[in-house]
Amino acid sequence: MPDVHHIAPYWAECLGGADRMLHELSVLLGARSDIACLIAEPMRSNCIVPPAGLWRAVRSLCDQHRVKLIFDEIPSGLGKTGRFFAHEHFGVTPDIVVLGKALGGGVLPIAAVLADASLDVAPELALGHYTHEKNPVTARAALTTIEIIEDEGLVGHAERLGLVLEALVRERMVGKANLITGVRGLGLLRAISFRARPGMTEAQIVAAGLKAGVSFTMKGPNVLGFSPPLVISDADLGYALSAVAGALDGM
Ligand SMILES: Cc1ncc(COP(=O)(O)O)c(C=O)c1O
Repeated sequence: MPDVHHIAPYWAECLGGADRMLHELSVLLGARSDIACLIAEPMRSNCIVPPAGLWRAVRSLCDQHRVKLIFDEIPSGLGKTGRFFAHEHFGVTPDIVVLGKALGGGVLPIAAVLADASLDVAPELALGHYTHEKNPVTARAALTTIEIIEDEGLVGHAERLGLVLEALVRERMVGKANLITGVRGLGLLRAISFRARPGMTEAQIVAAGLKAGVSFTMKGPNVLGFSPPLVISDADLGYALSAVAGALDGM
């Protein structure tokens, strides 16, 4: 897309973090009148939780300059953080939300754009033709996914298990030999930090996790993404954390 202006996100501490992000946004919106929207993830999947008040300040800057706020909740939406939308944690309502990934139950490809009704201004216009748009099978999968999330109370489940995970990590941190040093994030969208043994590479850590039966990605040299499915049980959560700890210890 032409004319996109990138602003480093709040979690980029080395570039000035949230204060710099807000300052840059404020200068940009003050200087230009041709900005249509701001697109951001309310919490990046590196699980660095935004500072209190950040998104409220962004929302008010957007309102002041008549700029639409669009949240990409593809990794964070649909209950993952213990709220249906992650932005509910931060007390703001965006104009548009984008969902994907888990919307198809994790197996069928479907994404969605949810917009405020005031933006539904051209229902008679076809805005594009894609081979797989309006696909009834994946649309049904998405609706069923949402029904299951509601019927099984999975949003509250994610919130509760997030607290269980925090407690389990705290218990582990009491042991001096334990390599796990902390957990961050919200609900079941988490990242676990650890003391890396000298010489451990990220690829080796991921491979050790897989060997122990747990699949994760790295979110930095000393941090791994811990993002279990919404339906995980208490027992499996405890098992997965032990497997991660065992994989780190065994390296
Ligand atoms: C924040 C974010 N947005 C969008 C995507 C891509 O979504 P899709 O594959 O549905 O285009 C990803 C993929 O990881 C993502 O992390």
